[in-house]
Amino acid sequence: MSDVARIGIVVASDRATTGVYQDRSGPAIAAWLSAALTMQWHREYRLIPDERAVIGATLVELVDAVGCCLVLVSGGTGPSPRDVTPEAVADVTDRVFPGFGEAMRAASLREVPTAILSRQLAATRGGSLIITMPGKPAAIATCLNAVFAAVPYCIDLMGGPRLETDPAVIKAFRPR
Ligand code: MTE
Repeated sequence: MSDVARIGIVVASDRATTGVYQDRSGPAIAAWLSAALTMQWHREYRLIPDERAVIGATLVELVDAVGCCLVLVSGGTGPSPRDVTPEAVADVTDRVFPGFGEAMRAASLREVPTAILSRQLAATRGGSLIITMPGKPAAIATCLNAVFAAVPYCIDLMGGPRLETDPAVIKAFRPR
């Protein structure tokens, strides 16, 4: 596998998958990463239904087979019966990092009171970080702006590729 950082973009949405509407969260994640990252990286995009087994299998494929150091997931974090992303992530990850969910919700709560309804979280599978976000396209920048400064160092510590960022978008913090 090459040195190019592979980043997974997963959108869990029944409606986008069946064409009820077009996915806008995936492109929003890709656009945010394109602006933030200054090194070479490769995107792996997956649009899938809100099925626990499918979400879990997609995460396993992206981490174990494709070798993604980071996977950003959008959708399925809310209270609707079909919102099962946190359960699917729990099925296939080993360690939860509660600070990500706390920081993303705190930032989102400054924008919408319903941000409290998102069970978004971050967890690792081996040396890969998986971060989940709400399915709203507008939530993407809010959430990534709230946590991404810590992501490059997290991936350093897990032995992954070095992520370099444009400080004008997000300044990666690496303690010395
Ligand atoms: N966070 C931000 N920044 N902006 C939003 O519009 N919507 C909230 C919440 N978090 C929202 C947000 C709502 S209405 C819900 S139901 C939850 O995210 C869960 O969304 P999901 O099921 O699409 O993941």
